[in-house]
Amino acid sequence: MALQNFELSKELLDSQAHIWNHILSFINSMSLKCAVQLQIPDIIHRHGSPMLLFELVEALGVKHERTPFVYRLMRILVHSGFFVKQSVSKTRDNGDEGGEGYLLAPASRLLLKDEPLSVRPFLLAMLDPMLLDPWQDLSKWFQNDDINNPFHTTHGRMLWDTASEEPKLNMFFNEGMASDARLVTSVILKHCEGVFEGLDSIVDVGGGTGTVAEAISKAFPNIKCISFDLSHVVSGLVGSKNLSYVGGDMFQAIPNADAVLLKWILHDWSDEECVKILKRCREAIPSKENGGKLIIIDMVVKVHEGENDLLETQLFFDMLMMTLVKGRERSEEDWAKLFVDAGFSDYKITPILKLRSLIEVYP
Ligand SMILES: C[S@@+](CC[C@H](N)C(=O)[O-])C[C@H]1O[C@@H](n2cnc3c(N)ncnc32)[C@H](O)[C@@H]1O
Repeated sequence: MALQNFELSKELLDSQAHIWNHILSFINSMSLKCAVQLQIPDIIHRHGSPMLLFELVEALGVKHERTPFVYRLMRILVHSGFFVKQSVSKTRDNGDEGGEGYLLAPASRLLLKDEPLSVRPFLLAMLDPMLLDPWQDLSKWFQNDDINNPFHTTHGRMLWDTASEEPKLNMFFNEGMASDARLVTSVILKHCEGVFEGLDSIVDVGGGTGTVAEAISKAFPNIKCISFDLSHVVSGLVGSKNLSYVGGDMFQAIPNADAVLLKWILHDWSDEECVKILKRCREAIPSKENGGKLIIIDMVVKVHEGENDLLETQLFFDMLMMTLVKGRERSEEDWAKLFVDAGFSDYKITPILKLRSLIEVYP
């Protein structure tokens, strides 16, 4: 009986601990955002050696009395793997004893302001109140008559319409996307060069401010590259000899090219909308025999053996798509159905991007 009570109490307390962890998970995101806004990764990086707490406080320019709070912020970020601690044994010139100093962990290198592949703009975009507020309305949206999404319930307009009218949102969203585009392009151009071989032209549909198209145009001077997006996104952008910007609506028509690139586009849309976009893409490219294809960069949701975090992140993105836009993350079966419904004959998935894959689709 006593043992049974113990088991029941254990289950009770385990459940409470599990719930508490989930209630407070947002503190991971917010602590990270705070560190990025205070430029802690940059300060520690510039320091060049393990940085003692008092040195960090001094460099941050915050009041000395804030030292214990900086310590606590750093403690959770060390725990979550963004910084590491290392002993500093020698006595410094100023007479201070050593202690434990902070260094960047590999993940926080990607949070540096001047790192070309930084994910900092993506972090600041995703954690901006404009994109976070809709989460407060998620349950309200399930119960109301809004046929769109929680973003629409909160802001009264869809994300892309809001971006066209709010320059601040337009700017931070496009910067966030461009930062991701730089990272993804660096991997694709290094490891999947063959994907672009034989192409004379490519159109990046929903190409944002043109980061991917520009990188391809530089890596392959013989490929004519078009970055195609809504006019408020591409207005004022200037191309080069083999790069041009075209404004328009992908649901209406897409400029012709040998290949259509769709990076992080289809996950924004419902299945019906994806089929429409894919049909427009098919009209824009030649037959398979003449080299026509789509190059999709998006997630393929699946269980990743031994890496439970990856599926969780994919499920986070799926909820993000539900809350901000009208899309979803898809399994291979979901993708295959879309391709068939849009009249494509074959596809090949290359899981080169850890959370995302490169999917080539043939007419
Ligand atoms: C999630 S972002 C991806 C941007 C870029 N492909 C990248 O991955 O960095 C989606 C893009 O689709 C564009 N978009 C939305 N609706 C569109 C439409 N009807 N026609 C063309 N582009 C559109 C948005 O302006 C935005 O740049």
